[in-house]
Amino acid sequence: MTSTIEVQDLVFGYPQQKPVLRGISFTLQPGERVALLGLTGAGKSTLLENLIGLKMPQSGEIRVQGKKLEEATLSQARRQIGFCFQDANDQLFMPTILEDVTFGPRNYGVPPGVARDRALSLLAEFGLIEFANRSAHELSGGQRRLAALAAILALEPAILILDEPTNGLDPSWRRHLAKVLSQLPIEVILIASHNLNWIGKTTQRALILADGEIRVDRPTQDLLKDRSTLEYYNLPPDW
Ligand SMILES: Nc1ncnc2c1ncn2[C@@H]1O[C@H](COP(=O)(O)OP(=O)(O)OP(=O)(O)O)[C@@H](O)[C@H]1O
Ligand SMILES: [Mg+2]
Repeated sequence: MTSTIEVQDLVFGYPQQKPVLRGISFTLQPGERVALLGLTGAGKSTLLENLIGLKMPQSGEIRVQGKKLEEATLSQARRQIGFCFQDANDQLFMPTILEDVTFGPRNYGVPPGVARDRALSLLAEFGLIEFANRSAHELSGGQRRLAALAAILALEPAILILDEPTNGLDPSWRRHLAKVLSQLPIEVILIASHNLNWIGKTTQRALILADGEIRVDRPTQDLLKDRSTLEYYNLPPDW
């Protein structure tokens, strides 16, 4: 069986700094829901941005559905991966959020009526229908986050990568998002998060990124019960 994502000895650093990612290897198989944990500044966003080719590693390689990520395969990989940025503002740029959510599908050749129906149904799912004709700047932080998620889901990606998806969401929307994710026909979901309680409800496997490496790779429930490991990595569950 082809792995959905395979990362081998990935090294990445920003200019004039020691590498943030210093030899990352892991494999994500079809059906997996995986959390990426780690302290502020550990390199989670940097790793996710490498996975979609927004940043290119200094060494090592990434395979998406068996294909090495490189210039020639980048656009295909981007079509397969829905990526939700940590900052929703990076994702919403059209005059209205309805246009933001139809933009991607239209770009991929989905007929206008189909794209619009899909967008309206996603906006309704996320409680945004009454704001469909507003710009993202006129929404709350949590509403912007939900609009960005709708824009990603409208692309019907095979793989979903979410960077801090619960940022700005109240408990009821966090719960709703967990339910929406649990019902998606998506091959792999990878979520960077600081919200241990929420990843306990949405993922079965957890990776901890520390000192530039994947230091822990365990079933989420096991890890959440293991207070000494969580404390060791400065991830106490009740703070
Ligand atoms: N564009 C950049 N140029 C230089 N250094 C950067 C850049 N972006 C991030 N860094 C540095 O790389 C390291 C990892 O940052 P990254 O954003 O990947 O962390 P993170 O684990 O996502 O943190 P958080 O939990 O705060 O989102 C940090 O030390 C950060 O200062
Ligand atoms: Mg981050």
